[in-house]
Amino acid sequence: MCGITGYLGGKDAYPVLVDGLKQLEYRGYDSAGVALVSDSGKLNVYKEKGKVSDLEDYIGDKDRSGHVGIAHTRWATHGEPCARNAHPHVSASGRFAIVHNGIIENYSVIKENLERKGYVFSSSTDTEALVQLIDYMSSRQESSDTVSILQAALREVVGAYAIALIDMEHPDCLYAARKSSPLVIGIGDGEFYLASDVNPVASYTEHVIFLEDEEIAQMCCGEPLRIVNLANDECRHEVTTVPKSLGKVQKGGFGHYMLKEIYEQPDCIRDCMRGRVNIEDKTVFMSAVHEHRDRLLSAGRFIIVACGTSWHAGLIGKQLFENLCQIPTEVAYASEFRYSNPVVGSRDVVFAISQSGETADTLAAVELARSKGAFVYGICNAVGSSIPRSTDTGSYIHVGPEIGVASTKAFTGQVTVLTMIALDLAREKHSIADSVYHEIVGELARIPYKMKSALRSDERIAALSGIFTYARNFIYLGRGYSYPVALEGALKLKEISYIHAEGYPAAEMKHGPIALIDEEMPVVIIATRNALYGKVLSNVQEIKARKGRVIAVVSEGDDVISRIADTVIEVPSSLECLDPLLSTIPLQLLAYHIAVCKGKDVDRPRNLAKSVTVE
Ligand code: AGP
Ligand code: GLU
Repeated sequence: MCGITGYLGGKDAYPVLVDGLKQLEYRGYDSAGVALVSDSGKLNVYKEKGKVSDLEDYIGDKDRSGHVGIAHTRWATHGEPCARNAHPHVSASGRFAIVHNGIIENYSVIKENLERKGYVFSSSTDTEALVQLIDYMSSRQESSDTVSILQAALREVVGAYAIALIDMEHPDCLYAARKSSPLVIGIGDGEFYLASDVNPVASYTEHVIFLEDEEIAQMCCGEPLRIVNLANDECRHEVTTVPKSLGKVQKGGFGHYMLKEIYEQPDCIRDCMRGRVNIEDKTVFMSAVHEHRDRLLSAGRFIIVACGTSWHAGLIGKQLFENLCQIPTEVAYASEFRYSNPVVGSRDVVFAISQSGETADTLAAVELARSKGAFVYGICNAVGSSIPRSTDTGSYIHVGPEIGVASTKAFTGQVTVLTMIALDLAREKHSIADSVYHEIVGELARIPYKMKSALRSDERIAALSGIFTYARNFIYLGRGYSYPVALEGALKLKEISYIHAEGYPAAEMKHGPIALIDEEMPVVIIATRNALYGKVLSNVQEIKARKGRVIAVVSEGDDVISRIADTVIEVPSSLECLDPLLSTIPLQLLAYHIAVCKGKDVDRPRNLAKSVTVE
């Protein structure tokens, strides 16, 4: 995946492009590059390994003039991250410059054919095959019309792409096309903006168009936007108005976005519940649930598809749907689901959970489920992203833009939405006693306050994190609702501190992982007071008997485990099904502080990207 920006209009293109790239760095930061049609009519291309700031340093006071340009921040799929493989790629003739998000799956066939025709390649990317193919198509066509050249080239392509293209034969125009990778066009006053998501565009204009698959956009100075598809039919698009709230997100005094986002959780969860949870009469109302009540209640089963942290939220969703609604629920990795020839039919409801709404695997799982007749319900954060636009219905989590690559507030937002859906459905299905329903809703409404007090452990966690920088491995344990929390805690630590961590169901430990325990091994165990507390206590004893170092997350006032564990972190007591919303917080903080102590780039961990828009 990667981030693309483009600009054509009266402004200097360079600052607009670079500013936009910075907002898209969550999509990748292996290298960055920019191509500008300079004021003297020359194509200037600058590329550098690393982040957008490295590109800026590299460019320094080189010629940055121009009112037309394209730019890219890369997450490498084909070819190592280096300046040579960075985008934009320029065709052999020098006529075309391209930036690309996606994978050209048949690039090697295209490349071999073109090499036989004398084309020489200078990078190891799949993208270069596409720009050379465009070049080749231009040499075979009599007309110099860029759109028809692009149509001819893109018809040959297998794979996914969002591209922005400069054609030096038409230096007053900009071209874009997409298939399975997102691209947003912003329409200003005599100017056009292009970006992989709406945020960079929303900084300049409220009027946007989401390009659809196999469409090509032509943006030329002084002309209206033209969109055609690969078959050359003209395409009409509604102009969407994007919320003004979108735009640049700042760190707001915090050292990292991740810490800011951890701290935002009480407010985010309040926003997530706004208009849905009625505190007065302790009820929940999810509009999508009521709109599709019969379809949801007649489902034979639910299937949740998601990746990474969103998959962990899905594991909690399964327990909520089964415990509260008595609806059998399966949870699948979207990447496995899409290739598993799943037995899915019209009686199934598939929930797709995704913070970004752009994860390629989850999007493909949605498309597969819909093609098999299932009803698909999206749970996403990024408003207007691809998944909400391709599902039958959905609920946004409304936690605001999440910039830190390690997901934090989106996880608690997803769990909150799943809880609200489960409660609302359970009420409609009469599978929950009224008293239990009102008790859970009442407690859910208190969660934002309790999250605030859970955050008070920050200082203590910061102080103790230094002790663990030596560790090369960690084990995270939990049972029931806390098991997915253990998985999530382990993922957070892996992602940002590069310490290997395993999440396990606490009781399963004795079937294998216990062999790993010695005095070097930190074991984080979620041991909040709930039905399985006694069992977890035994698991703690088993670890201590083998000299493991136990860090226990316990309910406030716990005086049993706190006497056995080496370190205890308290969270407010709650109901078992809501515990994950609180016990996750210390684990986020622990991962954060250990990574900071180790001097790691918390917001932009190596090899990762915020949104995985390729397979
Ligand atoms: C979370 O910390 C990760 N960076 C990652 O696992 C993420 O949750 C996953 O890629 C799914 O993303 P999505 O929610 O945007 O679909
Ligand atoms: N496949 C292209 C590359 O490796 C684009 C990658 C992307 O979309 O992140 O350069």
